[in-house]
Amino acid sequence: MTTAIIGTGGIGSVIARQLASGGETLRLSSADTKSAQRLAAEIGRPAVAAASNRDALQGADAVVLALRFTVLKGVVDEIAEPLTDKLVVVPSNPLSSDVQGNVTRLLPKGQSSGKVVAGWLPTGARLAMAFGTLSADLFESSGNRSPEPAVLFYVTDDDRAGQEVERLIRTAGFEPVKAGGIEQSARLEVGGDLHDLVVGPAKARSLVGEA
Ligand SMILES: NC(=O)c1ccc[n+]([C@@H]2O[C@H](COP(=O)([O-])OP(=O)(O)OC[C@H]3O[C@@H](n4cnc5c(N)ncnc54)[C@H](OP(=O)(O)O)[C@@H]3O)[C@@H](O)[C@H]2O)c1
Repeated sequence: MTTAIIGTGGIGSVIARQLASGGETLRLSSADTKSAQRLAAEIGRPAVAAASNRDALQGADAVVLALRFTVLKGVVDEIAEPLTDKLVVVPSNPLSSDVQGNVTRLLPKGQSSGKVVAGWLPTGARLAMAFGTLSADLFESSGNRSPEPAVLFYVTDDDRAGQEVERLIRTAGFEPVKAGGIEQSARLEVGGDLHDLVVGPAKARSLVGEA
């Protein structure tokens, strides 16, 4: 199947490599198309660089918006119409950092970034917040772990999105575990109790209260 990845920086590039190694066909785009072109050339045949964000969605079943929170709404507005029949996966943390490296949450404490992103999407788009729970290094080193796979947590309000994101998570070499509805997205973020945790399925299920 085909997934578009918009944003080929720190996290988008490792998501792309992991999905490609699991057999997913990829269409990549970035602000400066050179970054997507470089990554597509590095990955090889299952990945192509698209001419634009909209072009990346051509023929794609799903899109990963691997973007900083501050540019997310602008890109959603730019590509809104073709999102209406797609799984939309968002790994973004609602954070900004200044030149000193001080990190600030862009939303008031307690406000779910997932709910905010859901409000930006057009009707018909199926949202899952996922693929942002591990830092890029941990993500890359934990994929296809054996004998026990590492878990990637996700949240969604949509059953079909849940099935679709579970397929993508398995393709990337992880075991999916749902941590709740979209209002639970803060658990996945930097500072959340499920962030940067490399655990197997049993431990993960006990953490989300399914055990
Ligand atoms: N890095 C991590 O370890 C990590 C882990 C988990 C979650 N996250 C979250 O993931 C999000 C992205 O983080 P990152 O570290 O990957 O950021 P990043 O390295 O700055 O990459 C951002 C990417 O977005 C692209 N971009 C910016 N504006 C765009 C536009 N208008 N259209 C298309 N592409 C655009 C950039 O394009 P260019 O390449 O052309 O500049 C770049 O490829 C953040 O919210 C972060 O909190 C990051």
